[in-house]
Formats: sequence, structure tokens, C-alpha cells
Amino acid sequence: MKLTCLVDNAVLPYTPFWGEHGLSVLVDTPEGRVLFDTGASGTVLLHNLEAAEVDPASIRALALSHGHQDHTGGLAALLERRPGLPVYGHPDLLRERFSRRDAEMRAVGMPVYRSPDAREEEGMRSIGMTIPPEDLRRRADLRLSPQPQEILPGVWTTGEVTGRTEPEGRSPYHFVRGGAGWEPDPYRDDLSLVLETRRGLVLLCGCCHAGLLNTLAHVERVFGRPVVAVFGGTHLVSADADHLERVRQKLQLLSPIRVSPNHCTGETAFHFLRQALGPEVVRPFPAGAQVDLENL
Ligand SMILES: [Fe+2]
Ligand SMILES: [Fe+2]
Repeated sequence: MKLTCLVDNAVLPYTPFWGEHGLSVLVDTPEGRVLFDTGASGTVLLHNLEAAEVDPASIRALALSHGHQDHTGGLAALLERRPGLPVYGHPDLLRERFSRRDAEMRAVGMPVYRSPDAREEEGMRSIGMTIPPEDLRRRADLRLSPQPQEILPGVWTTGEVTGRTEPEGRSPYHFVRGGAGWEPDPYRDDLSLVLETRRGLVLLCGCCHAGLLNTLAHVERVFGRPVVAVFGGTHLVSADADHLERVRQKLQLLSPIRVSPNHCTGETAFHFLRQALGPEVVRPFPAGAQVDLENL
């Protein structure tokens, strides 16, 4: 099994890949290709697929970690090249999502960049999926479940991350529309992939709003084995010192072969973990990087 980072905030130097705030990772297995997330835009996703010499038509299935645009923004362009694509995720994926970050930045006089088609109401900008649910049902083969699903042999979704006793990867800006008005996003849809390799279970996270510690505990409970490597967005960017220390302790206990956190991990968390676990274990995973999971 092999991973290729297709979209990330960072790019492998001296490669033709483009970067953006988003994530997309290609999982190559002997049984076929699974794409995990689509980055923030079709422009970057299609460019980077071409740079990686991957024909979109060769993708067997897509899994979406959650509904945020930095993970689902490339979906419309992908479906144009690959109509009827099986799409795995949590049923809450289709729920509207909002951010009030723009309004707060404006309130303190900071400049705000907004794409021309950004929708905003009551100071809340829509940051959920850009394809309406009815459209998506017509254009893709939606396979939504809160339970773990096996996409191809050895490639699983975690399903909904249950029993969240540890800190989540929250943003104070993220909201959903609830019965009584705006409510903090419960991130029910947030899921990761679990890959069964010769070396053991590999965890591939999208944004990990459910929290890395909660996700690791959920995987151990559901799959009955510990994780030996972690890739992807871990949302430690807003973690305090206490939270980071707990992550360090857990990872040192697991003694993983590889930890390659990217996207929403944050520089502080990355270097803190690299110092604790060593540069052989903690390595970057920018767009253009490839890893053979059977020979980590
Ligand atoms: Fe997110
Ligand atoms: Fe994200």
C-alpha cells in the first residue's frame, strides 16, 4: 500500500505540485485507488493529479473526512472527470457548516479575503460542501454511514469517532445551524481512514476535529489493535501545552514507526513532536510526497 500526498498547505520543494490550505491523499492498494479528501479547489486537485500522473478515471472510490471546504472543494471538478464515483463518509457530511471568523477579523480591523462566491449571513460564512445534497446524490454514488466501512480490502473508514473523552480539534469559529440558532459544530462527521498494512494499522486523518487522542482510542477499540503510523491533518494547531503533552505521552507509549502530520497540525505541534519522537519518526508529508506503507 502506498500514500501520495496530493494537496497540502506545503509542497515538496522542486516539484510541479501546487499548494493550498486543504488536504487530499491518494491511497494506492493492490485492489485499486482510493482518494481521501479533495483539497480546497478543483484547480489545485486536477493540477496535482496530473503532476502525480494519476488519471481521475482510475480512482475507484473517494472518502471524505468531513464537510469543510478545504477537504471537499475539489469534489465538483472530480465528479466531472469521474461521474458516479462511490463517495464514503458520515451522514452529517451534508450538513451546512459556517465560520464566523471573517466577522471577528473585521471587528478588530483585520483584512478579510473572501472568494467572490462566498455566502454570508449574520456574519457567518458558509464553509460546508459547495454541491447541494440533491445534486451530489445524482452525480455520485453516496455511501454514508456512522459505522466503519470497508472501501477496498484493508482500507476502512473509522466511522463516527465515539467516546470523546480527550480534547477535540475544535475551532471557536465553527458553527452549525441548530434548532435554537447557531450552535458550535459538533463535528459528528469527522472521520479518518484506517489502513491495514503488513506493518500494522496506519491512521490517515483529514482534519481530526474529533481529536487525535479520541481517534486513536476509537481505532484501538474498534479494530482491536494499536496504530503504528499516523499521517494527515491532526488539528493540533490550537492545542494548548497540556493537550500537546498528552499527545506526546500517548505517541511515545505507542512508539510509532512514522508520524507525518500535515495540513492543520501547526508548526509548534509538528516540531514539539519531532523533538520528542525524533526526526526519523516525525517527518513532513507535503503535496508531492510519496510513502510506501509496507516499507516504512
Ligand atoms: Fe475542518
Ligand atoms: Fe482542514
